[in-house]
Amino acid sequence: MIARAETMVDVLRSFELRGAAGGARAGEQGELWGEPGGFPVEKKVAPSRTETIEVAGRPIPRIHNELWTARQRQGHSLHEISYRACFKAELPAFFIERLTAKGDRVLDPFLGRGTTTIEAGLRGRVPVGSDLNPLCPLLVEPRLAPPRLPEIEERLAEIPWGKGEDAGIDLSMFYHPETLAKITALRRYLRERREAGREDSIDRWIRLVAINRLSGHSRGFFSVYTMPPNQAVGPEKQRELNARRGQEPPARDVAELVLRKSKSLLRSLREEQRARLRVAHARGTITEGPADRLAGVAEGSVALTVTSPPFVDVVDYARDNWLRCWFAEIDAEGVRERLTTPRKLDDWAGAMGAVLRELYRVTRIGGWVAFEVGEVRGGKLPLDEIVAPLGVEAGLDCVAIAVHTQEFTKTANCWGVANNSKGTNTNRVVLFRRRL
Ligand SMILES: C[S@@+](CC[C@H](N)C(=O)[O-])C[C@H]1O[C@@H](n2cnc3c(N)ncnc32)[C@H](O)[C@@H]1O
Repeated sequence: MIARAETMVDVLRSFELRGAAGGARAGEQGELWGEPGGFPVEKKVAPSRTETIEVAGRPIPRIHNELWTARQRQGHSLHEISYRACFKAELPAFFIERLTAKGDRVLDPFLGRGTTTIEAGLRGRVPVGSDLNPLCPLLVEPRLAPPRLPEIEERLAEIPWGKGEDAGIDLSMFYHPETLAKITALRRYLRERREAGREDSIDRWIRLVAINRLSGHSRGFFSVYTMPPNQAVGPEKQRELNARRGQEPPARDVAELVLRKSKSLLRSLREEQRARLRVAHARGTITEGPADRLAGVAEGSVALTVTSPPFVDVVDYARDNWLRCWFAEIDAEGVRERLTTPRKLDDWAGAMGAVLRELYRVTRIGGWVAFEVGEVRGGKLPLDEIVAPLGVEAGLDCVAIAVHTQEFTKTANCWGVANNSKGTNTNRVVLFRRRL
């Protein structure tokens, strides 16, 4: 673990990513990323470049380097839950591995699909996560207590699939009537279990997987072909897509698809990782709440935060998740009103200032905050330069800005990931430390 800020700057500057071209072979993902220090080693990919920028009157190094691999799906299989604007598991892994020890508390106050939280749990840290969107804890908590496949199979066989109910909205453009009847039967079963106080970790797992299978582009999803996979288009757009493609929703086996995705999520989970997750689940907390008021997170209790806020108004998390909210019986419009998605940069900066003050409060002395902001408005809006002085105002030291530069892949491009003009895709991580 790194004790001195200067050392971390050296790491960022001299870090050599090795093996992106071949260090990680298919099937090795779990081994590579489930274990501490499991970064692939082979050859240098990109030389680092450092510039100096002024933050609150002090020179701060902004280091451009390739800090993790350009490969898609490099992380542990347990991460494979789609969510708009999630970061790759390698980002939190990079900082968790270098800046914390086993048993340390690792926070993400903008939880999303829980990339930081799951990675922290897999690496023996205590995860603390929250998000204002009530959907997020439903996506994350079950993966800290994953059931075993036979338990999932047995439970799926017990669900009264014939007891479908009225969906309340027209979803015929997404689902065959038989599929919809099964989806509503599952939704009803989960509601009744919850209301009867009988919901358990297997039910919560099945809910998580079903949420993830609601809409997508392959036969592995409940819906007819739809795009993009990590958000649901509106009913009208789906009707247009069906007409354009000459498609009708086919019947799907909901239970079979839940089981298949469960197998896939659990495929690289080893026994020692299960054991670590058990501890993480028992000692960590996953809650719904605002990032600037982390109820239940004690002062000075967090060793590291790795987080990524909403970038101004780029993503409409509530609208993107309307179908998932329907299934989980969450009021998407209510969520939308509460989330931080201001149009004006000043409002966004005000909201981030409040979050950074809260992060100062909960971070222990000597602890770290890695605050990731992407590129918005064609790279013209340097959010890292806005966030850095806000953190200093909140009482944190700005140690460095790490710009992860990655050759973008076709996959990243076609899903509309923001790429800069040189054909690269960057994460900008402002690294702070609490000294006092
Ligand atoms: C960029 S995403 C985080 C993605 C996450 N890093 C991951 O890998 O899944 C931002 C998240 O912030 C949440 N959010 C927006 N405003 C919030 C607020 N005021 N407090 C807490 N969470 C908020 C959104 O619901 C969204 O899940």
